[in-house]
Amino acid sequence: MERLQKVIARSGVTSRRKAEALILAGKVKVNSKVVTELGTKVSSKDTVEVEGIIIENEPKVYYIINKPAGCISAVSDDLNRRVVVDYLRKKGVTERIFPVGRLDYDTTGALILTNDGELANLLMHPKNEIDKVYLVRCQGIVNSDVIRKLRSGIKLANYITQKAQVDLISIDKKNKSSQVRITIHEGKYHQVKLMFEAVGHPVKKLRRERYAFLDVHGLKPGEFRRIKIHEVKQLFVLATHKVPKRNYKIRRY
Ligand code: URA
Repeated sequence: MERLQKVIARSGVTSRRKAEALILAGKVKVNSKVVTELGTKVSSKDTVEVEGIIIENEPKVYYIINKPAGCISAVSDDLNRRVVVDYLRKKGVTERIFPVGRLDYDTTGALILTNDGELANLLMHPKNEIDKVYLVRCQGIVNSDVIRKLRSGIKLANYITQKAQVDLISIDKKNKSSQVRITIHEGKYHQVKLMFEAVGHPVKKLRRERYAFLDVHGLKPGEFRRIKIHEVKQLFVLATHKVPKRNYKIRRY
C-alpha cells in the first residue's frame, strides 16, 4: 500500500505537491469515490482517477538512448517530425514512456526515457543536483577567462546559471574552435548554448556524455538499452539521498 499522492506523482500526471492539492480539491477518486484525505493508502488493485482520467498502473520501465541528431525529445510531434520515442517503439517498446528532460533537435547523447513520473521529477529538479555532462565544440579559442566565467555562473535573460564544472579539453587553431566539457545540474531551455553564446563562443556541436552516472558507451546513435534495476535504485539514491522503499511493479529484465 502506498500513499495516494505518491502513486499519482509516479504516474507522471503531476508532481506530488500538485497531487496533494488535487486531492484536497476533491478531484481525485479511488474506486469511483472522491477521496480528500491526504494519508489515504492505495494498492495496485485500486483504480485511481485524477480529474476524470484513470491513471495507468503499468510496470515501470527505464531506458537510456544515444539520441541521434535530427529528432525531437518528445513523445509525438504535431508536424510529424521524428521523435526520440520512435526509436523505442520500432523495437517493440509499448509502455507510455517519455524523455526525462530535453535535448535539442541537433544535440546527441545520453537521454533517459521512462514511464516513472516520480523518478523523472526527482532527476529533473535542480535542487537534487544530478550531473548532466556535456561535450561542447564551440567557435573560437576559449581562454581561461571564459572558463572562469562559465564556472562561476552566467547571467542570461532572466536567470543566473548555477556554478558549473568546466574544463577546456582541446583547441583547434586551424579551424578556430575549442572543445570544452561542462557539467551542470540545471536543465533550462538551450542552457548550454545560451551560456556559450553569452561568452562569445557559439556552440557548433553538442553532445551529452553522461546523465548522472549513465553514459551511452557501446550504443550507436539511435540505439538504447534498459537501465538495470540496481542503476534505477542508484538514481533514486542520488536524487533523494535515501534508499528507495518501493513495493510497486518494476518490469523485470
Ligand atoms: N543545453 C542546450 O543548449 N541544448 C541541449 O540540448 C542541452 C543542454
